[in-house]
Amino acid sequence: MTMTLSRQTVVPITELEQSAFCQTGGNLRTQTLEEEFRSGVRWQKIPTRYLKLSPEELDAGIREARTALGNSTIVLGHHYQRQDVIKYADFRGDSYLLSKQAASVKDARAIVFCGVHFMAETADILTSPAQSVILPNMAAGCSMADMAATDDVEDCWDDLISVLGTDNQVVPVTYMNSTAAIKALCGRNGGLVCTSSNAGQAFKWAYERGRRVLFLPDQHLGRNTAHKMGIPAEDMVVWNPFKRMGGLTPEEIRRSRVVLWQGHCSVHTRFSVKQVEEAREAHPDINIIVHPECVREVVDIADYVGSTEYISRTVNEAPAGTTWGIGTEINMVTRLASQNPDKKVFCLDPVVCPCATMYRIHPAYVLWVLEGLMADLVINPVEVPEPIRTEAKLALNRMLEIGG
Ligand code: 13P
Ligand code: SF4
Repeated sequence: MTMTLSRQTVVPITELEQSAFCQTGGNLRTQTLEEEFRSGVRWQKIPTRYLKLSPEELDAGIREARTALGNSTIVLGHHYQRQDVIKYADFRGDSYLLSKQAASVKDARAIVFCGVHFMAETADILTSPAQSVILPNMAAGCSMADMAATDDVEDCWDDLISVLGTDNQVVPVTYMNSTAAIKALCGRNGGLVCTSSNAGQAFKWAYERGRRVLFLPDQHLGRNTAHKMGIPAEDMVVWNPFKRMGGLTPEEIRRSRVVLWQGHCSVHTRFSVKQVEEAREAHPDINIIVHPECVREVVDIADYVGSTEYISRTVNEAPAGTTWGIGTEINMVTRLASQNPDKKVFCLDPVVCPCATMYRIHPAYVLWVLEGLMADLVINPVEVPEPIRTEAKLALNRMLEIGG
């Protein structure tokens, strides 16, 4: 039961850093780590000799380390990684594909995950205990995942059960962008994990087992998915973790079909209807493609909606001469633009606003952990303890079974 009535609203520090990080003046070029430390976000401490290495020196060092380590180490990279990091990835993809890839890597001793903390946790859960999963910079979290603290989610779950009972009344579904502890809560309570690739299948799975869904932590992905399934807005309620009983009456909870956790992505909620309208006015033949973490009004007027892998594939496969206005992270959009010089590809948000946590994987950190491996040292291992590991794996396996 929620006991703390007068708790202060806590804005995750990663969210505050995200807004400060948007003023990067359009510069996505990799600088020395020492120069990037001035950006106003927190970075993990690293031995000083890595601070002054130029991008060229880092590149030479990483290539040398990769050759020396051979197949014992694989590098996974999420689409939002900067170009100077993703170029080292043996495999790149969205959260769903990367988790599948992690589950299928049997030979590698170490997996260097160029992404954010919840992705590395997932990889650790899906790999064998003999394999090490490494996050090059431990400060690379996710401001959305930080919006669902374990205690708050456990309080919410207890409150929902106290109102609804345990008789298949609510199935917890968590977006991949959440801590292993939240995934474990879903696993032990008959729920599952989803990504932006399979949220629709996950909702369907949940409704075959219960009357309503508790969706964590992204209210927008949850709302967009439910809306696409034909669930009306009046059947959805938003759970505010800073209010008693989520700010809802027992009657509102009983009437609902979806309970949406009040979380969001600070990068994707920047995209607006106005930006889409302006892009359409400037380019009448434009195709608008956005990530489902955008607000519903933007998703409603987009031509295409999907995960980062879907966006990448759709734009790469589009005919020459087409125009694409994209609603997702700027490093990925910039890369798509340079890979598709025969198309016009641009970000709908005119402010250059990279995901501040993804950006913390600087090549200096990649070199640091690779050199560690060469010296038989596992720097920054991500290890999910029991029983969270087993319970979260249950929820992840249910996701892998429904497919992407
Ligand atoms: P994808 O699963 O689409 O890659 O999304 C992950 C993410 O963090 C989007 O903000
Ligand atoms: Fe998290 Fe948003 Fe960054 Fe994705 S883009 S990792 S949801 S903060």
